[in-house]
Amino acid sequence: MGFFDFFTEEIAIDLGTANTLIIHQDKVVVDSPSIVARDILTNKIIAAGKEAAMMQGKTHENIKTIRPLKDGVIADFDASEKMISMFIKDIPALKKKLFTPALRMVICIPSGITEVEMRAVRESAERVNGKEVYLIHEPMAAAIGIGVDIMQPKGNMIVDIGGGTTEIAVIALGGIVCDKSVKIAGDVFTNDIIYYMRTQHNLYVGERTAEKIKIQIGSATEDLEIPPEEMNVQGRDLLTGKPKQVQISYREMAKALDKSILRIEDAVMETLSQTPPELAADIYNTGIYLAGGGSMLRGLDKRLSQKTDLPVYIAEDPLRAVVRGTGITLKNIPRYRSVLIK
Ligand SMILES: Nc1ncnc2c1ncn2[C@@H]1O[C@H](COP(=O)(O)OP(=O)(O)OP(=O)(O)O)[C@@H](O)[C@H]1O
Ligand SMILES: [Mg+2]
Repeated sequence: MGFFDFFTEEIAIDLGTANTLIIHQDKVVVDSPSIVARDILTNKIIAAGKEAAMMQGKTHENIKTIRPLKDGVIADFDASEKMISMFIKDIPALKKKLFTPALRMVICIPSGITEVEMRAVRESAERVNGKEVYLIHEPMAAAIGIGVDIMQPKGNMIVDIGGGTTEIAVIALGGIVCDKSVKIAGDVFTNDIIYYMRTQHNLYVGERTAEKIKIQIGSATEDLEIPPEEMNVQGRDLLTGKPKQVQISYREMAKALDKSILRIEDAVMETLSQTPPELAADIYNTGIYLAGGGSMLRGLDKRLSQKTDLPVYIAEDPLRAVVRGTGITLKNIPRYRSVLIK
Protein backbone atom coordinates (compact mmCIF):
# COMPACT_ATOMS: atom_id res chain seq x y z
CA MET A 1 0.00 0.00 0.00
CA GLY A 2 1.48 3.29 -1.10
CA PHE A 3 1.21 6.63 0.65
CA PHE A 4 -1.39 7.70 -1.89
CA ASP A 5 -3.49 4.58 -1.21
CA PHE A 6 -3.69 5.45 2.44
CA PHE A 7 -5.84 8.45 1.61
CA THR A 8 -7.72 6.80 -1.22
CA GLU A 9 -11.17 5.32 -0.96
CA GLU A 10 -12.61 3.02 -3.60
CA ILE A 11 -16.18 3.18 -4.79
CA ALA A 12 -18.19 1.54 -7.56
CA ILE A 13 -21.19 3.41 -8.98
CA ASP A 14 -24.11 2.24 -11.09
CA LEU A 15 -25.55 5.49 -12.33
CA GLY A 16 -28.95 4.34 -13.54
CA THR A 17 -31.93 6.12 -15.02
CA ALA A 18 -34.15 4.88 -12.21
CA ASN A 19 -31.71 4.00 -9.41
CA THR A 20 -28.19 4.90 -8.40
CA LEU A 21 -26.22 2.37 -6.38
CA ILE A 22 -22.81 2.70 -4.80
CA ILE A 23 -20.57 0.00 -3.38
CA HIS A 24 -17.89 0.92 -0.83
CA GLN A 25 -15.82 -1.66 1.03
CA ASP A 26 -17.82 -4.54 -0.52
CA LYS A 27 -21.13 -3.20 0.73
CA VAL A 28 -23.95 -1.46 -1.09
CA VAL A 29 -23.95 1.83 0.80
CA VAL A 30 -26.24 3.80 -1.51
CA ASP A 31 -29.35 2.44 -3.20
CA SER A 32 -31.51 5.41 -4.06
CA PRO A 33 -33.82 6.60 -6.79
CA SER A 34 -32.03 8.88 -9.28
CA ILE A 35 -34.08 11.93 -8.45
CA VAL A 36 -33.27 15.39 -7.10
CA ALA A 37 -35.46 18.25 -5.97
CA ARG A 38 -34.54 21.78 -6.94
CA ASP A 39 -35.66 25.01 -5.35
CA ILE A 40 -36.57 27.18 -8.31
CA LEU A 41 -36.06 30.45 -6.41
CA THR A 42 -32.50 29.77 -5.27
CA ASN A 43 -31.70 27.23 -8.01
CA LYS A 44 -30.26 24.97 -5.30
CA ILE A 45 -30.70 21.22 -5.12
CA ILE A 46 -32.45 20.70 -1.80
CA ALA A 47 -32.84 16.94 -1.75
CA ALA A 48 -31.65 13.83 -3.56
CA GLY A 49 -32.64 10.19 -3.65
CA LYS A 50 -35.43 8.85 -1.46
CA GLU A 51 -36.19 12.23 0.05
CA ALA A 52 -36.63 13.79 -3.38
CA ALA A 53 -38.66 10.81 -4.58
CA MET A 54 -41.20 11.40 -1.81
CA MET A 55 -41.77 14.87 -3.21
CA GLN A 56 -42.35 13.58 -6.73
CA GLY A 57 -45.75 14.60 -8.09
CA LYS A 58 -46.50 16.53 -4.90
CA THR A 59 -44.45 19.67 -5.38
CA HIS A 60 -45.64 23.26 -5.61
CA GLU A 61 -44.40 25.81 -8.12
CA ASN A 62 -41.19 26.69 -6.26
CA ILE A 63 -39.91 23.14 -6.02
CA LYS A 64 -39.31 20.90 -8.97
CA THR A 65 -38.29 17.26 -8.93
CA ILE A 66 -35.90 16.27 -11.68
CA ARG A 67 -34.70 12.93 -12.90
CA PRO A 68 -31.24 13.86 -14.21
CA LEU A 69 -31.05 10.74 -16.39
CA LYS A 70 -33.51 9.94 -19.10
CA ASP A 71 -33.61 7.11 -21.62
CA GLY A 72 -30.33 5.83 -20.25
CA VAL A 73 -28.42 9.07 -20.84
CA ILE A 74 -27.72 12.12 -18.73
CA ALA A 75 -30.33 14.74 -19.52
CA ASP A 76 -29.28 17.27 -16.86
CA PHE A 77 -25.56 17.33 -16.15
CA ASP A 78 -25.66 19.82 -13.34
CA ALA A 79 -28.36 17.93 -11.47
CA SER A 80 -26.69 14.57 -11.99
CA GLU A 81 -23.37 15.85 -10.70
CA LYS A 82 -24.98 17.32 -7.60
CA MET A 83 -26.84 14.08 -7.06
CA ILE A 84 -23.67 11.96 -7.25
CA SER A 85 -21.86 14.35 -4.97
CA MET A 86 -24.68 14.25 -2.40
CA PHE A 87 -24.77 10.46 -2.50
CA ILE A 88 -21.01 10.18 -2.04
CA LYS A 89 -21.05 12.62 0.87
CA ASP A 90 -23.75 10.47 2.44
CA ILE A 91 -21.62 7.30 2.56
CA PRO A 92 -21.35 6.67 6.32
CA ALA A 93 -17.69 5.64 6.33
CA LEU A 94 -16.67 8.72 4.34
CA LYS A 95 -18.79 11.10 6.39
CA LYS A 96 -16.58 10.52 9.41
CA LYS A 97 -13.45 11.63 7.56
CA LEU A 98 -12.00 15.01 8.35
CA PHE A 99 -11.34 15.80 4.71
CA THR A 100 -12.72 14.48 1.45
CA PRO A 101 -10.65 11.45 0.46
CA ALA A 102 -9.33 10.95 -3.04
CA LEU A 103 -11.50 8.44 -4.85
CA ARG A 104 -10.66 5.57 -7.10
CA MET A 105 -13.90 4.88 -8.89
CA VAL A 106 -15.48 2.59 -11.44
CA ILE A 107 -18.67 4.01 -12.92
CA CYS A 108 -21.06 2.02 -15.00
CA ILE A 109 -22.45 3.78 -18.06
CA PRO A 110 -25.09 2.81 -20.63
CA SER A 111 -23.55 1.28 -23.74
CA GLY A 112 -25.35 3.79 -25.96
CA ILE A 113 -23.56 6.77 -24.40
CA THR A 114 -21.65 9.18 -26.69
CA GLU A 115 -18.01 10.26 -26.33
CA VAL A 116 -19.14 13.70 -25.17
CA GLU A 117 -21.40 12.22 -22.53
CA MET A 118 -18.66 9.89 -21.42
CA ARG A 119 -16.29 12.81 -20.96
CA ALA A 120 -18.96 14.66 -19.00
CA VAL A 121 -19.42 11.73 -16.61
CA ARG A 122 -15.68 11.57 -16.13
CA GLU A 123 -15.41 15.31 -15.46
CA SER A 124 -18.26 15.11 -12.96
CA ALA A 125 -16.45 12.28 -11.22
CA GLU A 126 -13.23 14.31 -11.10
CA ARG A 127 -15.05 17.24 -9.57
CA VAL A 128 -16.21 15.04 -6.69
CA ASN A 129 -12.54 14.19 -6.07
CA GLY A 130 -12.24 11.20 -8.37
CA LYS A 131 -8.48 10.83 -8.88
CA GLU A 132 -8.59 7.58 -10.79
CA VAL A 133 -11.77 7.11 -12.77
CA TYR A 134 -12.71 4.09 -14.87
CA LEU A 135 -15.88 3.57 -16.86
CA ILE A 136 -17.50 0.28 -17.76
CA HIS A 137 -20.37 -0.52 -20.09
CA GLU A 138 -23.55 -1.62 -18.40
CA PRO A 139 -24.12 -5.05 -20.04
CA MET A 140 -20.51 -5.97 -19.28
CA ALA A 141 -20.95 -5.03 -15.64
CA ALA A 142 -24.24 -6.93 -15.54
CA ALA A 143 -22.57 -10.05 -16.95
CA ILE A 144 -19.79 -9.89 -14.35
CA GLY A 145 -22.37 -9.28 -11.60
CA ILE A 146 -24.38 -12.30 -12.70
CA GLY A 147 -21.25 -14.43 -12.38
CA VAL A 148 -20.55 -15.06 -16.06
CA ASP A 149 -16.86 -15.60 -16.80
CA ILE A 150 -16.63 -12.94 -19.49
CA MET A 151 -13.01 -13.73 -20.40
CA GLN A 152 -13.82 -17.22 -21.70
CA PRO A 153 -13.97 -17.89 -25.45
CA LYS A 154 -17.64 -18.58 -24.98
CA GLY A 155 -20.71 -16.56 -25.95
CA ASN A 156 -23.19 -15.34 -23.36
CA MET A 157 -26.26 -13.22 -23.92
CA ILE A 158 -27.25 -10.61 -21.36
CA VAL A 159 -30.48 -8.61 -21.42
CA ASP A 160 -30.52 -5.76 -18.91
CA ILE A 161 -33.97 -4.20 -18.63
CA GLY A 162 -33.53 -1.05 -16.56
CA GLY A 163 -35.64 2.05 -16.19
CA GLY A 164 -34.57 3.91 -19.32
CA THR A 165 -33.09 1.33 -21.64
CA THR A 166 -33.01 -2.34 -22.40
CA GLU A 167 -29.47 -3.32 -23.27
CA ILE A 168 -28.91 -6.58 -25.05
CA ALA A 169 -25.38 -7.84 -25.55
CA VAL A 170 -23.52 -10.94 -26.58
CA ILE A 171 -20.26 -11.11 -24.69
CA ALA A 172 -17.21 -13.29 -25.32
CA LEU A 173 -13.47 -13.02 -24.64
CA GLY A 174 -13.93 -9.93 -22.51
CA GLY A 175 -15.64 -7.94 -25.23
CA ILE A 176 -19.09 -7.10 -26.52
CA VAL A 177 -19.49 -8.96 -29.82
CA CYS A 178 -22.87 -7.56 -30.76
CA ASP A 179 -25.31 -5.42 -28.89
CA LYS A 180 -28.48 -3.47 -29.14
CA SER A 181 -29.94 -0.80 -26.92
CA VAL A 182 -33.60 0.15 -27.10
CA LYS A 183 -35.31 2.89 -25.16
CA ILE A 184 -38.07 0.57 -24.00
CA ALA A 185 -37.78 -0.38 -20.34
CA GLY A 186 -39.39 0.22 -16.94
CA ASP A 187 -40.23 3.89 -17.56
CA VAL A 188 -42.07 3.05 -20.76
CA PHE A 189 -43.95 0.25 -18.99
CA THR A 190 -45.05 2.80 -16.40
CA ASN A 191 -46.21 5.21 -19.10
CA ASP A 192 -48.07 2.39 -20.85
CA ILE A 193 -50.01 1.86 -17.63
CA ILE A 194 -50.80 5.58 -17.29
CA TYR A 195 -52.06 5.59 -20.87
CA TYR A 196 -54.10 2.43 -20.36
CA MET A 197 -55.79 3.76 -17.23
CA ARG A 198 -56.62 7.01 -18.99
CA THR A 199 -58.03 5.46 -22.14
CA GLN A 200 -59.72 2.38 -20.67
CA HIS A 201 -60.87 3.65 -17.29
CA ASN A 202 -60.97 7.44 -17.73
CA LEU A 203 -58.72 7.53 -14.71
CA TYR A 204 -55.78 9.88 -14.47
CA VAL A 205 -53.03 8.31 -12.33
CA GLY A 206 -49.60 9.73 -11.51
CA GLU A 207 -46.24 8.14 -12.18
CA ARG A 208 -45.82 6.84 -8.63
CA THR A 209 -49.20 5.14 -8.69
CA ALA A 210 -48.55 3.63 -12.11
CA GLU A 211 -45.23 2.24 -10.92
CA LYS A 212 -46.96 0.73 -7.89
CA ILE A 213 -49.48 -0.95 -10.22
CA LYS A 214 -46.65 -2.28 -12.37
CA ILE A 215 -44.85 -3.82 -9.42
CA GLN A 216 -47.98 -5.17 -7.72
CA ILE A 217 -49.84 -6.65 -10.70
CA GLY A 218 -47.78 -5.92 -13.84
CA SER A 219 -47.44 -8.88 -16.19
CA ALA A 220 -45.97 -9.77 -19.55
CA THR A 221 -48.55 -12.45 -20.23
CA GLU A 222 -52.26 -13.03 -19.73
CA ASP A 223 -51.83 -16.54 -18.42
CA LEU A 224 -49.77 -16.48 -15.26
CA GLU A 225 -49.51 -19.64 -13.20
CA ILE A 226 -49.73 -17.70 -9.95
CA PRO A 227 -51.85 -14.66 -10.72
CA PRO A 228 -51.71 -11.69 -8.35
CA GLU A 229 -54.94 -10.46 -6.78
CA GLU A 230 -56.89 -7.62 -8.37
CA MET A 231 -55.83 -4.18 -7.27
CA ASN A 232 -57.77 -1.08 -6.28
CA VAL A 233 -56.38 2.03 -7.91
CA GLN A 234 -57.23 5.60 -7.02
CA GLY A 235 -56.80 8.64 -9.20
CA ARG A 236 -58.77 11.45 -10.77
CA ASP A 237 -61.79 10.80 -12.94
CA LEU A 238 -61.13 12.54 -16.24
CA LEU A 239 -64.83 13.14 -16.88
CA THR A 240 -66.05 14.42 -13.53
CA GLY A 241 -62.78 15.68 -12.09
CA LYS A 242 -63.52 13.84 -8.83
CA PRO A 243 -61.19 11.37 -7.13
CA LYS A 244 -62.23 7.84 -8.06
CA GLN A 245 -61.26 4.21 -7.51
CA VAL A 246 -61.28 1.33 -9.98
CA GLN A 247 -60.35 -2.33 -9.66
CA ILE A 248 -57.93 -3.76 -12.21
CA SER A 249 -56.48 -7.17 -12.97
CA TYR A 250 -53.07 -8.36 -14.12
CA ARG A 251 -54.64 -9.40 -17.45
CA GLU A 252 -55.40 -5.77 -18.19
CA MET A 253 -51.80 -4.88 -17.43
CA ALA A 254 -50.59 -7.59 -19.80
CA LYS A 255 -52.69 -5.91 -22.50
CA ALA A 256 -51.34 -2.48 -21.57
CA LEU A 257 -47.72 -3.65 -21.73
CA ASP A 258 -47.93 -5.99 -24.71
CA LYS A 259 -46.71 -3.58 -27.39
CA SER A 260 -43.62 -2.56 -25.43
CA ILE A 261 -42.72 -6.14 -24.60
CA LEU A 262 -43.07 -7.06 -28.25
CA ARG A 263 -40.42 -4.45 -29.03
CA ILE A 264 -38.06 -5.93 -26.49
CA GLU A 265 -38.68 -9.38 -27.96
CA ASP A 266 -37.93 -8.05 -31.42
CA ALA A 267 -34.67 -6.50 -30.23
CA VAL A 268 -33.60 -9.78 -28.63
CA MET A 269 -34.46 -11.68 -31.82
CA GLU A 270 -32.55 -9.19 -33.92
CA THR A 271 -29.46 -9.46 -31.73
CA LEU A 272 -29.65 -13.26 -31.88
CA SER A 273 -29.84 -13.10 -35.65
CA GLN A 274 -26.64 -11.01 -35.74
CA THR A 275 -24.72 -13.34 -33.46
CA PRO A 276 -21.87 -15.24 -35.13
CA PRO A 277 -22.75 -18.95 -35.43
CA GLU A 278 -20.13 -20.28 -33.00
CA LEU A 279 -21.39 -17.95 -30.31
CA ALA A 280 -25.01 -18.73 -31.17
CA ALA A 281 -24.16 -22.38 -30.53
CA ASP A 282 -22.88 -21.41 -27.08
CA ILE A 283 -26.00 -19.39 -26.31
CA TYR A 284 -28.13 -22.37 -27.33
CA ASN A 285 -26.54 -24.17 -24.39
CA THR A 286 -26.16 -21.35 -21.89
CA GLY A 287 -29.43 -19.51 -22.55
CA ILE A 288 -30.19 -15.85 -21.86
CA TYR A 289 -29.49 -14.00 -18.60
CA LEU A 290 -31.80 -11.21 -17.50
CA ALA A 291 -30.82 -8.36 -15.19
CA GLY A 292 -32.25 -4.97 -14.21
CA GLY A 293 -35.46 -4.12 -12.39
CA GLY A 294 -37.61 -4.58 -15.48
CA SER A 295 -36.67 -8.26 -15.64
CA MET A 296 -38.83 -8.80 -12.55
CA LEU A 297 -42.00 -8.13 -14.51
CA ARG A 298 -44.13 -11.24 -14.03
CA GLY A 299 -43.97 -13.76 -16.86
CA LEU A 300 -41.39 -11.84 -18.86
CA ASP A 301 -38.77 -14.58 -18.55
CA LYS A 302 -41.25 -17.20 -19.68
CA ARG A 303 -42.43 -15.09 -22.57
CA LEU A 304 -38.88 -14.47 -23.79
CA SER A 305 -38.12 -18.15 -23.43
CA GLN A 306 -41.11 -19.11 -25.56
CA LYS A 307 -40.20 -16.55 -28.18
CA THR A 308 -36.55 -17.58 -28.47
CA ASP A 309 -36.84 -21.29 -27.60
CA LEU A 310 -33.98 -20.75 -25.18
CA PRO A 311 -33.75 -21.10 -21.43
CA VAL A 312 -33.99 -17.70 -19.73
CA TYR A 313 -32.60 -17.03 -16.26
CA ILE A 314 -33.22 -14.00 -14.06
CA ALA A 315 -30.13 -12.84 -12.17
CA GLU A 316 -30.13 -13.12 -8.42
CA ASP A 317 -31.18 -9.73 -7.05
CA PRO A 318 -31.49 -8.26 -10.57
CA LEU A 319 -31.59 -4.64 -9.39
CA ARG A 320 -28.08 -5.02 -8.00
CA ALA A 321 -26.42 -7.19 -10.65
CA VAL A 322 -24.85 -4.20 -12.40
CA VAL A 323 -23.43 -2.56 -9.30
CA ARG A 324 -22.19 -5.95 -8.09
CA GLY A 325 -20.32 -6.41 -11.36
CA THR A 326 -18.98 -2.87 -11.19
CA GLY A 327 -17.78 -3.57 -7.64
CA ILE A 328 -16.02 -6.76 -8.75
CA THR A 329 -14.06 -4.88 -11.43
CA LEU A 330 -13.12 -2.22 -8.88
CA LYS A 331 -11.48 -4.89 -6.73
CA ASN A 332 -9.65 -6.44 -9.69
CA ILE A 333 -8.70 -3.52 -11.88
CA PRO A 334 -5.65 -5.24 -13.44
CA ARG A 335 -7.69 -8.33 -14.37
CA TYR A 336 -10.47 -6.29 -15.94
CA ARG A 337 -8.30 -3.61 -17.52
CA SER A 338 -9.44 -4.60 -21.01
CA VAL A 339 -13.11 -3.97 -20.22
CA LEU A 340 -12.55 -0.76 -18.26
CA ILE A 341 -12.41 2.52 -20.12
CA LYS A 342 -9.71 4.69 -18.57
N1 LIG B 1 -40.97 -6.05 -9.30
C1 LIG B 1 -40.86 -5.30 -10.39
N2 LIG B 1 -41.58 -5.54 -11.50
C2 LIG B 1 -41.47 -4.78 -12.59
N3 LIG B 1 -40.64 -3.72 -12.69
C3 LIG B 1 -39.90 -3.42 -11.61
C4 LIG B 1 -39.95 -4.18 -10.42
N4 LIG B 1 -39.08 -3.62 -9.51
C5 LIG B 1 -38.53 -2.59 -10.14
N5 LIG B 1 -38.99 -2.44 -11.38
C6 LIG B 1 -38.65 -1.41 -12.36
O1 LIG B 1 -37.29 -1.52 -12.69
C7 LIG B 1 -36.81 -0.24 -13.14
C8 LIG B 1 -35.51 0.09 -12.47
O2 LIG B 1 -34.57 -0.88 -12.77
P1 LIG B 1 -33.01 -0.57 -12.65
O3 LIG B 1 -32.71 -0.03 -11.30
O4 LIG B 1 -32.32 -1.80 -13.10
O5 LIG B 1 -32.89 0.60 -13.71
P2 LIG B 1 -31.66 1.61 -13.91
O6 LIG B 1 -30.41 0.85 -13.84
O7 LIG B 1 -31.81 2.73 -12.98
O8 LIG B 1 -31.96 2.14 -15.39
P3 LIG B 1 -31.01 2.10 -16.68
O9 LIG B 1 -30.17 0.89 -16.58
O10 LIG B 1 -31.98 2.05 -17.83
O11 LIG B 1 -30.27 3.37 -16.64
C9 LIG B 1 -37.90 0.77 -12.80
O12 LIG B 1 -38.59 1.15 -13.96
C10 LIG B 1 -38.79 -0.01 -11.84
O13 LIG B 1 -40.13 0.44 -11.92
MG1 LIG C 1 -29.20 -0.08 -15.09
